[in-house]
Amino acid sequence: MKKIQMKTKFSNPVLLTILAMILLAVMAGCSSAGEAEATEDKEAAGETKRPILIQGPMPIEAETFAERLENVTIEESGSTYEFYIGTVDGYPVIVSKTGKGMENAAASTAIAIEKYNPAAIINQGTSGGHDPELNVFDIVLGERTVNIGSMKTGDRAAGEGIEPTEWKPMDVMASEGSAGEDPNAEKARYYEGDADLLAAAKAVKDSYTKGKIVEGTIGSADLWNNEVDRIKWFHENYGTSVEEMESASVAMISKAYDVPFLAIRVLSNNKTNDGAYNADTAIANQEYVYEVVKEYISFLESN
Ligand code: 5AD
Repeated sequence: MKKIQMKTKFSNPVLLTILAMILLAVMAGCSSAGEAEATEDKEAAGETKRPILIQGPMPIEAETFAERLENVTIEESGSTYEFYIGTVDGYPVIVSKTGKGMENAAASTAIAIEKYNPAAIINQGTSGGHDPELNVFDIVLGERTVNIGSMKTGDRAAGEGIEPTEWKPMDVMASEGSAGEDPNAEKARYYEGDADLLAAAKAVKDSYTKGKIVEGTIGSADLWNNEVDRIKWFHENYGTSVEEMESASVAMISKAYDVPFLAIRVLSNNKTNDGAYNADTAIANQEYVYEVVKEYISFLESN
């Protein structure tokens, strides 16, 4: 390795030290004054606080909340992902319209984390009931989320047919090796909802009057099940309360970045008890989630 030698016109060590000290003092003065001003500006705009990210897949699942934001600006990534950047009670909140499905949910979550560094993420929207005790307009707080599309089929030779009830859950995060060959991967992976977000959601339960609010397991996949026996199979084998197409995907990405996460899903339909689809549930859910966010902001501000 070559050594680089610094050459200087100043050879007197005392003079050099004094010059260096003056330079350092001037630099420190400049940067601390500049930083203080920048911090004041940012504080005035609520920008030093990490935002809370609220996701909704479809326009009807995001726009009610977005309309309630103050000081809104809109940013886009690609042609699908929209971020409404604003405040609630002076605290930064971003509403993200993610688009439907696991891939859109994952991509928009990773983009939001990299761009906006959120303090917490709530994925909310509609869902279909797996539990016959739950009715349209009831809300499930995602104590756990699970990918119900991640599966390994049984071993069947040509002509032996297809047997979906034999399919086993598959945990793609079990190891870095082949999930198809790894016996440890033959299990469902459940992502826990964040305890503080869950506590905030429970604290404002009474503000919701259109149905009941329960804690439960939210199953996600790019799949819409209309076979009641299959729905029952998921309910019994995975313990699912509802199904939808995004939350478990967001849970996986949030975990990868260590960002607190909770899914909050209203039933817009329930095949198991003839609960007909009602799109107004999407609005009702956002109104409740708005209360959850206000509660969580007061939690963050007091900690
Ligand atoms: N099955 C799957 N997804 C559902 N959604 C609402 N009900 C269901 C259901 N029964 C949600 C998904 C997706 C969109 C189609 O609606 O999360 O965003």
